[in-house]
Formats: sequence, structure tokens, C-alpha cells
Amino acid sequence: MIASLARTANNLLCLNKQLLCLLWLCRAPYDAPMTNLPQNSDGTQTSDFGAGSGQWRGRFPYNEIITLLDVNRLYNLAESTSQDLTVGEVLDLAGPDRIRDLKLGYGKSAGLPDLHQAVADACKAPAEHVVTTQGTALGIFLLALELCRAGDEAVLVSPCFPPSRDSLIGAGARVREVALSFDDGYRLDLDRIEASLSPKTRLVSLASPQNPNGVQTPRAAIENLLVMMERRSPQALLFLDETYREATYGDTPPADSFAALDPRIVTGASVSKALGAPGLRTGWLTVADADLRTRLTVAKMNTVISGSVLDETLAAALLRNREKVLAPRRRLLAGAIDELARWCEAERERIDWVRPDAGALCCLRLRPDVLDAAGVSRFWRVLPRHDLQLASGRWFGESERVFRLGFGYLPPERLGPALSALSTALDAAVA
Ligand SMILES: Cc1ncc(COP(=O)(O)O)c(C=O)c1O
Repeated sequence: MIASLARTANNLLCLNKQLLCLLWLCRAPYDAPMTNLPQNSDGTQTSDFGAGSGQWRGRFPYNEIITLLDVNRLYNLAESTSQDLTVGEVLDLAGPDRIRDLKLGYGKSAGLPDLHQAVADACKAPAEHVVTTQGTALGIFLLALELCRAGDEAVLVSPCFPPSRDSLIGAGARVREVALSFDDGYRLDLDRIEASLSPKTRLVSLASPQNPNGVQTPRAAIENLLVMMERRSPQALLFLDETYREATYGDTPPADSFAALDPRIVTGASVSKALGAPGLRTGWLTVADADLRTRLTVAKMNTVISGSVLDETLAAALLRNREKVLAPRRRLLAGAIDELARWCEAERERIDWVRPDAGALCCLRLRPDVLDAAGVSRFWRVLPRHDLQLASGRWFGESERVFRLGFGYLPPERLGPALSALSTALDAAVA
């Protein structure tokens, strides 16, 4: 009996050693960042990953924004999209017979020529500069992976869409983050960006309009940034994420794309936000440098092979008809932002906000003179009780006192009740 127990213990020990060897062999080739177990925004710990080691072992940092894919409460003010289109609405734009006859082979390596042309028209850039991607997200990932090797530097403007930072970390880049301030209305701080540039910088990354705050960067600031980059980081490219560019309000026309401004600019965007089709998973990069374009296409081949011909055909139809889709959405967003502005005015003793330039999203802040740190924790804890969902500033590299509020996702008749529920949640947090 004792001998058999000893044998079992010995076998277990060997198994453990083999497992450890395997983990050692398969580890990332660089020092992947090891963060503590992530905290949920209500202060609890997420524990359904890892092997109970108390450490997150992923190549990419864990970010609670992933819960947005799986949780959708009645008063979802966390989403950054406009309302979702239906397949039927997009089919009608594409022509159902054309779709029925579509052959489901692999797509072309750089994407569907029809989609290239539609993107070129939207961005006023040459069609041959376009590489299609599965959402802007894949473009962000491929660019980080292809441009940044271990030890290279990337300058990132934050707060930002978490994968813009985390794909750089996953690629082994040293990320120099330039955090913009709520109090400055998240205006680009060129002096601090300049101080972060170096000859090792390979990529400077920012979004306009930015997620989470909807603040746009003026053309003059981008031109100044390019001059700085030429001086201090001659090998760097500038990635401009234009995912929210066309989500404007009322009669405001979208800002021009930066795609054709300078060959060092790579832009990325998709049909996900302004056009309301994130489920198509279709986006693009515009890349002037032919060598980089080929490298990105090879990286895409090694990741997803090609885009889906069905998704890309539907996305091309959507882009060609985008004015038809965007006009009613601009009206909805104009109504929604007016309603939100009125609510913010009524709540000005408890809430500050930065009014966005475009995008169905903006940043609000719980006033420190009304809610201390314990009050902020209470605020996050009470939200589910009120069927509310918000995106924590922490996900984007901001304080937990700040939250992103999406005002374009709920049907218009539900926005008012959602904001009332938010006032009630504030009452409960203050008490
Ligand atoms: C600034 C920004 N870029 C890119 C994305 C990725 O979106 P998609 O891959 O659907 O285009 C998002 C999504 O929230 C975003 O906010």
C-alpha cells in the first residue's frame, strides 16, 4: 500500500516536471508582461483563467473590455457602435441575387478589388494602397507585429482602444505612452509626444476620433507631428485609426481621411462603427509603402489567409451606399447627443464631461468633490442592480473615476430611461 502510494506520488512528480518542461519550451520568446489577476470594475477579481497561480499568463494583457462581447444589459451605455444593421438591410444594398451566386472560394490576398475601390473613394487614396483586414482590429495587430520587433519602441497616445496598446505589448515592443488629460479635453500634447520620440521609434499610434472620448485631432496637429517624427524618429510610421471618422452628428460632414496626406501615414478603419456592421468583421489599412504592404499581406496570409468573400462583398456594397446608411444615423446621433448634453447639464454637480467631436461615445467623470474613492467603487457596484452597463476608464488607461458612455447604441426611446437609471445609480453611490 505504502509502496503503491509512493509510486503514484513519484509518477505525479514526473508528470509535473514534464508539464513544466513543456510550458518552458512553449513560453513567449521575450519577457511577456506578467500582471496580477485583473480586477473587475466592481472591485471583485476575475478568477476563471490561469491555473490558479494568481498570475495572468497570457501573451496579451488581460482587459475586462472583453466582457462587452458577452454581457448586454437593458441599459447598455457601454457600447461604442451605432445601432446594428440587419443582414437583410445589407443584402438589399448588395442585391440578393448577386450574393446568392457568389462563389465561396478564398478571397484575394490583399482583399476584394471592389472593396479596395470603395475604400479608395471614401478615403481619397489610391485603390492599390488598400489591404483589407478582419476589422480595424486585425490591421492594428498586423501592423504591431510587422513593424515592431523586441526592443523597438512605439509611441502610443492614450486613453485608447485597449488592443492598440496590448497588441504592441504582445509584439514585444517597448510602449511609450502619452496619456492625454480629461482636464485638457484630451487635446493632443505634441510636446510630450516629441519627448517620447527616439531613433528606435518604429510606430506612432493614435486614433482620431479617439476611443473612449470621441475627440478628433486637427490636421495641423498631424502635420506638426510628422515634422517632429522626421527630425527625431526618421524610421517611424504614423498609424491613424479612423474607425469613428464618419460617425458625425446632424449636418456635420466627416473630417477628410488622413490617408493621402503623407506616405508615412497608415490609416485603419472598418464598417463597424459609423455604419453599424461590426459583425461583418471587415476593415482595411491604407498603406502607401509598397514593401510594407507586401509584408502586411504576408502577415495576413499567416494569420487568417484572406478575408471572407461574403463579408467583403457585403462591406463593399455598404460602403458604396454609405450616404444612404449614414444620413439617418447622423440624425439619430444628433438627437442622442443633445439629450445627453441636457442630462449632463442637469447632473453638472455630480458629473463632468468632455463633449466629443464625433463617434457615438464620450468620456464622463464622477466629480471628486461629490464621490470619494469609496463612492466610485460603490458606483460601479450598483450599476448591475439598475440594469446599467458602462465602460470603465481603466480599460482604456484612464482613471476608474472616468467612464465611457455610448449614446448611439440603444434605440432612441431607451436612452432617456437609461440616463434616468444612471441618475438613480448616482443617488445610490452618493448616499
Ligand atoms: C479606435 C478603435 N479602433 C479599432 C477598433 C476595432 O473595431 P473593428 O475591428 O470592429 O473595426 C475599435 C473598436 O472598438 C476602436 O474603438
